[in-house]
Amino acid sequence: PAELVLPAFIREGLTEPNPITSMPGVLQHTTETLKRAAAEAVELGVGGIMLFGIPAERDAAGSAGTDPNGVLNQAIADVRAEVGDDLVIMSDVCLDEFTDHGHCGVLDENGVVDNDTTLEIYGRMAVEQARAGAHVLGPSGMMDGQVAVIRQALDEAGFQDVSVIAYAAKYASAFYGPFREAVDSQLKGDRRTYQMDAANRREALLEVELDLEEGADMVMVKPAMSYLDILADVAAMSPVPVAAYQISGEYAMIEAAAANGWIDRRRAIEESVLGIKRAGANIILTYWAAELAAWLKESK
Ligand code: PBG
Repeated sequence: PAELVLPAFIREGLTEPNPITSMPGVLQHTTETLKRAAAEAVELGVGGIMLFGIPAERDAAGSAGTDPNGVLNQAIADVRAEVGDDLVIMSDVCLDEFTDHGHCGVLDENGVVDNDTTLEIYGRMAVEQARAGAHVLGPSGMMDGQVAVIRQALDEAGFQDVSVIAYAAKYASAFYGPFREAVDSQLKGDRRTYQMDAANRREALLEVELDLEEGADMVMVKPAMSYLDILADVAAMSPVPVAAYQISGEYAMIEAAAANGWIDRRRAIEESVLGIKRAGANIILTYWAAELAAWLKESK
C-alpha cells in the first residue's frame, strides 16, 4: 500500500460530491469528502495522494492556479491540516485545469502553447503549492525545462525540501479521455505539440535524462498499461524512484468491462497493477489505490 498514490479531484463550490460518469466510483470532491478520503488513505496505509483542482472560474492565463486562495492551493492546505505528514501530499503543477482553452500552458498570439511564458507561471504555481503544504510537486504539462524552473523557484523561496516527481515520459494518449470529464476540461484539439508520440520509444529515455539533469527527485511514465516497455526501459536506467500512472481511461475500461460482467473486476484490477509493478514501477498512481490497499491488508 505504501507504494500506491491516490489521485483525487476537488471542485470549487460543490456542496455535495459529484460523481464522474466515465469513472464509476471516482468523485469530484468537496473539501469535506476530500479530507475524509485523505484520512481513509492514511488508515489504509496508502503512501500518497495526488491532488487536482477544478476552479469555478477559468481564464486564458489560468490565474486560479497561482492564486494562493485558489481551489487547489486551498485543498493542499486543508489536506495537510487533516493528515500532516502521515500521507505524502502531491499536487499537479499544470495549467490545463485552470485555463479557459484547456491547454497545459498559455497560448501565444497564434494560439500555440508558449513554452517559456508557461514556465514562469509554473514557477509561481509551484511556490504557492509548496507554501500551502505540498510535499511533492508533479509537473504534468510536458513543457521543456519545467523541472529546472520549478526546482529553482522552490529553492529561491526556501522550499529546498519540497521534491519534484517529474512526468518525464508522458505520451499524447487517447486514454486520458475520462480525465477530461473529471476536470471539466475545455480542451478542443489535442496535446501532440507537447506530449510524446506513442510510436517513439527512445525519446522517453532522453526526456528522463533531461528531467534528471534538471533536478527531478522521481520520474514518471504515463500512461502505464500501453507503455510497460517504456516503464521497463526507464526502470533499468533511472537512479531515482520510478512512478507509473494508471490513468483514467485504463480505469474506465476495466470498470466498464467489469460492470458488464465481461471480466472479473478484482482479478483484472490486481493483474493490471501487478503488471505495472513487474515492469519496474516503485510508485503507482491508481484510482484504485484505497481499494487495493484494503485488499492487500485483508490478504495479510
Ligand atoms: C494534466 C494531466 C492530465 C492527466 C494528469 N495530469 C491530462 C492530460 O494530460 O490530458 C491525466 C490523468 C488521467 O487520465 O487519469 N494536468
